[in-house]
Amino acid sequence: MTLPDTTLDEQTIGELRELMGRYPQARSALLPMLHLVQSVQGHVTAEGIQTCAELLGLSAAEVSGVATFYTMYKRRPMGTHHVGVCTNTLCAVMGGDVILERLKDHLGVGNDETTDDGQVTLEHIECNAACDFAPVLTVNWEFMDQQTPESAVELVDRLRAGEEVRSTRGATITSWREAERVLAGFEDGRADEGPAAAGPSLVGLEIAHERGWAAPDYPEQADRDGSDTSKTKLGADEQADTSRAESETVAEQSGADVEGGKSDE
Ligand code: FES
Repeated sequence: MTLPDTTLDEQTIGELRELMGRYPQARSALLPMLHLVQSVQGHVTAEGIQTCAELLGLSAAEVSGVATFYTMYKRRPMGTHHVGVCTNTLCAVMGGDVILERLKDHLGVGNDETTDDGQVTLEHIECNAACDFAPVLTVNWEFMDQQTPESAVELVDRLRAGEEVRSTRGATITSWREAERVLAGFEDGRADEGPAAAGPSLVGLEIAHERGWAAPDYPEQADRDGSDTSKTKLGADEQADTSRAESETVAEQSGADVEGGKSDE
C-alpha cells in the first residue's frame, strides 16, 4: 500500500498501521487511530480524517461522522492542557457550575476555548463516573477530585506556569497530546501511578465487609435451566435482597437497642 498524501510522518503512518493490525477487522481501529492523530496534530484535522479513511478503505465522510460524534475528538486545536469541569447533576449541585464560571472569569475564555498563551482549553464535561468525589475536574483526563473554585484557580495557574502537577489520585499530569497517545494504545509506563480505588469509592465495599455481605453464588447451568425459580438468577437475587434486608434490620435493631440502653439477656 502506498503512503497517503499527508504531512503525518512515516513513523505516525506506521503506528496507524500498527493499530489497524491489532484488530480482526482493521476498521475497528478507527477510534484509537483518531486519538493518535490528535496526539500528533493537536486535533482531528481534515488531513487526519483523509489519512485514516485512505488507510482503512473508508470514505472521509464515514470517518468524519465518527470524529464529530464523540466529544473526545476535537475539531479545533487544543491547548497544552485540557481542563474539564464536570457540570453534570451531582457535580453541579456540589459546586461544579460555580467552578466553571470562576475558571471562565479567571482564564478569560468561554466554554471550549483556549487561553491566549495556548496553555489551557476549558470545557464543561458530562459525568465522568466519579460522582462520589464531586465536584470533579479532569486535566488531560486525569481526575482532580473534590475541587473548589479556589483550588481550581490554583490548579490552572500552576498548569500555565509549567509547574509539576499531580492528580489527586497520584498520577503525574503530562500534556493533552501525551494523554491522547496513551488513549491511542501506546503505553507511557505510568498506568500504575496512584491507587486504583480509594476513599468514597470503597465505602460500600467496606460496609459489605463489616456486615458479611457477599454476592450470591451463581446457580449451576442445570439449575438455571430448571423451573424452580428459587434456583434461577432472579430467584438468587431476590433471596440475596431478602437476606440483606434481614441483616440490615438486625443491625438497625441492634443499634437501636444500644442507644436505648437495652442489652441481650
Ligand atoms: S456528576 Fe460529575 S462525575 Fe458524575
